[in-house]
Amino acid sequence: MTGTKGEIVVVPEGEFDRVVAEHLAEALKSGGRSGDVTLALAGGNTPEGGYRRLAEIDGIPWERVEVFFGDERAVPPHHPQSNYRMARDSLLSRVPLREESVYRMEAEHPDREVAARRYEGLLPEALAILVLGIGEDGHTASLFPGGDAVREVSRRVVPTRGPVPPRDRLTITPVVVLHAERVFVLARGPGKARAVRRALRGPVDPHQCPAQLARGGTWILDEAAAGGMEISVGGGSP
Ligand code: 6PG
Repeated sequence: MTGTKGEIVVVPEGEFDRVVAEHLAEALKSGGRSGDVTLALAGGNTPEGGYRRLAEIDGIPWERVEVFFGDERAVPPHHPQSNYRMARDSLLSRVPLREESVYRMEAEHPDREVAARRYEGLLPEALAILVLGIGEDGHTASLFPGGDAVREVSRRVVPTRGPVPPRDRLTITPVVVLHAERVFVLARGPGKARAVRRALRGPVDPHQCPAQLARGGTWILDEAAAGGMEISVGGGSP
């Protein structure tokens, strides 16, 4: 993605999940023409409705899709706050993926350093599709403002601690975000408007606003998250 211009898609709140699903479906259908399509999913709440709609779209080569995660909290896979659980319930359990093609981040491992190294070995050199969210503080994945993880320049997965529970996490680093072929950032609701505007229109400082690492991606916003930001007709670019 590095150096790509990026795109902003603003939709009415009621259309958000459908538009997210359609963009991800198009990317999956066209990604990785030969071999597997590698998809890394975001956690949190925002993507859930779009994942559910995605599960209903026909013609996606799920048998060729490998699923990864951008981050995970240090909780078991059935825990209500597990990103894996959310993805499994809304999408992964509802599409014909090969069992062995879902790579869960084992953030609950007693030694997260070991789990990070192991996961790093599973990741492709460049993800075909990376789905991210954005926090109200401008974080993305579990790359938090001012944190060590957002300053990582060589490792691709690291243990980290967030400012809100569940604090202990595993996260991809900027290296993975910047190498991903297609990045989608999802944001909805007025609470995200300030962070979105800062990420897309503010001074470039990814250490303080990690979501800026994805400026070159496709930002899918509902009108509230777009917060009246000046966007040229036809989507516009960050
Ligand atoms: C996490 C997510 C995180 C999320 C944002 C937005 O593990 O929390 O990966 O980066 O995308 O915090 O979360 P919401 O979608 O719940 O607002």
